Amino acid sequence: MMGDLKRGDRIVIATHNEGKASELAELFAPLGIETVSAGALGLKEPEETGESFAENAEVKAEAAAAASGMLAVADDSGLEVASLGGAPGIHSARWGGPNKDFRLAMERVNRELEASGATDRRANFTCALAFAQPAGKTLVFTGKVDGTLVWPPRGTRGFGYDPIFVPDGYTETFGEMDPALKNEMSHRMRAFEKLILSNLALR
Ligand code: IMP
Repeated sequence: MMGDLKRGDRIVIATHNEGKASELAELFAPLGIETVSAGALGLKEPEETGESFAENAEVKAEAAAAASGMLAVADDSGLEVASLGGAPGIHSARWGGPNKDFRLAMERVNRELEASGATDRRANFTCALAFAQPAGKTLVFTGKVDGTLVWPPRGTRGFGYDPIFVPDGYTETFGEMDPALKNEMSHRMRAFEKLILSNLALR
């Protein structure tokens, strides 16, 4: 299939979100792939015009590959709450407002859940990773992790909605958990594994 990504490559991580950039850097490092974030390269953030995680990941990866001339990986991800019809979904970052304040975003999730009267607090994190080549086609891989939302938030590790999300089979939130353990089961890791499987040279 592809096999374009190989040891020694340096790729752009098409994000300005440092939480995502560092998690992805840790996933790629053992494969001998160096990552640099779009933020660090001073690339502009494209408008997220897509209607799905996959479309938005594609937009971001293609913009970064075109602007840098390098292989690019973009992550579009978010929290989907079952009782809120999948919200905030692709709007997960936007619920943090202009200052990306996730304390506010978590409060909004909790408020809307309480207002809905729902007792079902199930949610999942979903991640779409797009892999774009400057002059080639873009591939998209997705991953998901199921869990339950708690209130109040717990833990200061991770980022975004991590302090209110307890993955199935565990008692700690992603905000309390050792980051290495989060990386073993996360939506991002699951999408990443599929990306690596499609790159023959890395297996
Ligand atoms: P995006 O940059 O539009 O993809 O925004 C994704 C948003 O989803 C992030 O800003 C976080 O709020 C949330 N999100 C995605 N992945 C995670 C995660 O692993 N933990 C917590 N929040 C996440």
